[in-house]
Amino acid sequence: LKILTIVGARPQIIKAAALSRAIREDYSETIEEVIVHTGQHYDENMSKIFFEELQIPEPNYNLNVGSGLHGAQTAAMIQGIENVLNDENPDCIILYGDTNSTLAGAIAASKIHVPVVHIEAGLRSFNKAMPEEINRIMCDHVSTYLFSPTKTGYQNLLKEGFKENINDANIDNPAVFHCGDVMYDNSLYFSRISDEKSDIIKDLELENKEYVLVTVHRNNNTDDPQRLSQIFDGLIDIVKEFKINIVLPLHPRTREKLKSLTEEVLEFIQNNEHFKIVDPVSFLDMIQLEKRAELIITDSGGVQKEAYFFKKPALVMRKETEWVEIIEAGAGVLIDSEKELMKKSFSKFYKAEIDFPQIFGNGKAANFICERLISNHSS
Ligand code: UD1
Ligand code: UDP
Repeated sequence: LKILTIVGARPQIIKAAALSRAIREDYSETIEEVIVHTGQHYDENMSKIFFEELQIPEPNYNLNVGSGLHGAQTAAMIQGIENVLNDENPDCIILYGDTNSTLAGAIAASKIHVPVVHIEAGLRSFNKAMPEEINRIMCDHVSTYLFSPTKTGYQNLLKEGFKENINDANIDNPAVFHCGDVMYDNSLYFSRISDEKSDIIKDLELENKEYVLVTVHRNNNTDDPQRLSQIFDGLIDIVKEFKINIVLPLHPRTREKLKSLTEEVLEFIQNNEHFKIVDPVSFLDMIQLEKRAELIITDSGGVQKEAYFFKKPALVMRKETEWVEIIEAGAGVLIDSEKELMKKSFSKFYKAEIDFPQIFGNGKAANFICERLISNHSS
């Protein structure tokens, strides 16, 4: 079975590690993987660092597409992926998540009849103003194999007309599976390695200090100066009131937008001893930061899940989330960009005792996916 994997953005590289590892350890005789990097993310600390640390094979192709408007970026990827598909002639294409790289792979492959495998299928925020919502819906609807990490995602697919227990799947008769989350596979696998190898706590002088881990990069938060300033006002209030540290590994998109903040806010976040704004960190460092945090404030899809994996409450800076189970479990709360709600929720969740029932599978999602792909290929 020859699969062609598309990665492009940081979280996809991380997700791809789980399947690559399963192939290397358990299916090297049966599955051959070709990796294509679209080049959507290209800074060393947004891309290369993850290949090294997560032991993902070097990409066989890099399309070097880089940043751009949605249309130009996606179009360049479609063209590049189509060429590689024609050269490599794989049995299927593997697509992760909901980025423009996902959508490009879906369009390129489905048009030339290469079966699409979508990992992280069925997730819905029901907010089509998000570029990711468009990407995931479009990808799901040209997929032949849809692997959903959560029950809700699986149910969403059934509501959209996908059928259970499909044999001999094809694009008109696709097969859907509920299989757990490959990111959970990764967090379990790399947790101990992170304990052994990461020095980030020492490097940031956080030993014996309490801190909140923050990430922000969603376009509606970064590109709207009012929302961005509400978020930073809220964080500053938390620092002042609770005398707690904030650690914020800053996405390049957000770094570019900081200049929309007032001089006063910039001066505070750059010079106050409690604020630690750093460049994006490696995955092993990120796990360490997540594990030691008191609480996590984020608008990231992946980071809100990892908060849950490591049993940390999450304040989610969005109006809605596709990871509804986290909110339903009472382990997270949607705070949008409301600073008052941020402060109130912080008080409520700080030091709170919370249950984290297992809702993201058993850490073997990648093996489940490999088994299904192999059995469908040979049937
Ligand atoms: C993309 C995904 C988003 C995902 C995020 C993960 C889309 C539409 N969005 O958002 O779903 O959550 O990745 O991080 O696909 N930049 C750099 N260096 C890099 C990469 C980006 O400086 O290596 C800067 C550029 O100014 C670029 C901006 O970040 O214009 C945005 O990058 P882009 O990949 O378009 O979107 P993300 O916001 O990263
Ligand atoms: N991550 C990381 N370093 C960072 C920030 C995030 O390794 O500085 C990891 C994080 O642990 C998670 C993934 O990147 O596995 C989430 O990616 P991101 O927040 O960029 O995108 P999203 O999940 O929202 O699409």
